[in-house]
Amino acid sequence: MSLNIGQLRKDFPILARKVNGKRLVYFDNAATTQKPVQVIERIKHYYTEENSNVHRGVHHLSQLATDKYEHARQFVASYIHAGSAKEIIFTRGTTESVNVVASLFQHLIGAGDEVLITAMEHHSNLVPWQQLCRQQQAVLKVVPINEKGELDMTALKNMITSKTRMFALAHVSNVLGTINPVGEAVKLARKKNIPVLVDGAQAVAHLPVDVTGLDCDFYAFSAHKAYGPMGIGVLYGKEEWLKKLPPYQFGGEMVDQVSFSETTFNNLPYKFEAGTPNVSGVLGMEAALKYIEEKGIGNVRDHEDELLDFATRKLSKTEGIKIIGEAREKTAVLSFVVNGVHPYDLGTLLDQMGVAVRTGYHCAQPVVESFGLTGTVRASFGIYNTLEEVDVFVDALKKSIALLK
Ligand code: ALA
Repeated sequence: MSLNIGQLRKDFPILARKVNGKRLVYFDNAATTQKPVQVIERIKHYYTEENSNVHRGVHHLSQLATDKYEHARQFVASYIHAGSAKEIIFTRGTTESVNVVASLFQHLIGAGDEVLITAMEHHSNLVPWQQLCRQQQAVLKVVPINEKGELDMTALKNMITSKTRMFALAHVSNVLGTINPVGEAVKLARKKNIPVLVDGAQAVAHLPVDVTGLDCDFYAFSAHKAYGPMGIGVLYGKEEWLKKLPPYQFGGEMVDQVSFSETTFNNLPYKFEAGTPNVSGVLGMEAALKYIEEKGIGNVRDHEDELLDFATRKLSKTEGIKIIGEAREKTAVLSFVVNGVHPYDLGTLLDQMGVAVRTGYHCAQPVVESFGLTGTVRASFGIYNTLEEVDVFVDALKKSIALLK
């Protein structure tokens, strides 16, 4: 079954609006996706019919909200093939999930130890490890990528040593669109007993995610890049790790018994969820993942591959354009530069023609700079984009280039 994009677009009210008097072409999905009515209505329903604090009341609404919240956790667990719902911690998003793990690993990383990341990480999976290494006098090592934007697996093999304490890598690069061979990378790390954190920010909306199959120790993602609300996301952690690591924030439902002199902590996953959680966000995220599941992630992948291939072919034929990121395995992201034209100027002109793209470093300055650039233009695709929109984008791009040259 293939997707009926015309029908599906009607689920996204914002796509009907105009921008600068033009029909909106939204190609900034790697920054955040638009939200379908199913998600918007789910949040509205929660606040009109179900709102209450969770895990805290004997009254009907509190129990209802708790049931819905825990049901969503079960759903997320099965969506990413976690072993159990205990392994799903709700956070504010990818950035917080990575920060939590980096901050908890300060107990396990000391002077001279090594943390491995890759040369295609965005700041959220780079700065937390860099700061941790600085604080602990550990060494941050960066696995190189080739000129196509593919991970150097031979270098990775050689860089995993007896001093490595963590390997953190993106599932998909937000700048290059590269899909990393995460399963293979985990196998290499596993041989030396090194824990692996996978940053799934750019993967969950585009690829099937199976944390058990990947055998990673941690997996982080945000709902808002997968048609869900902002400010909510997931940290998946293997139960054995979550049991071993201490809590990182205190208060609320994460306690078991409290006296003025001592506190014991709650079981998983509550040990890591201090304070009143973002219940509406969790329910909105569940609705978003259900939306993807209903459409079929395989169909989503096929559709986005078609968009990416079509756009890549068109840009390759356009004079003066250089595509950045030409990995064999790519998804949904097309970065490029135009000879003699500043990305920011292009982005501004495209916006005037109703086309939303991102320009600059994309929160991944070292990645962009490693290609000798100070920025790229990035078109990133989602489930609702069409081949006609690619045509509109390429026409607008050609007009913009002509105006700027
Ligand atoms: N990480 C997000 C992006 O790639 C913000 O645009």
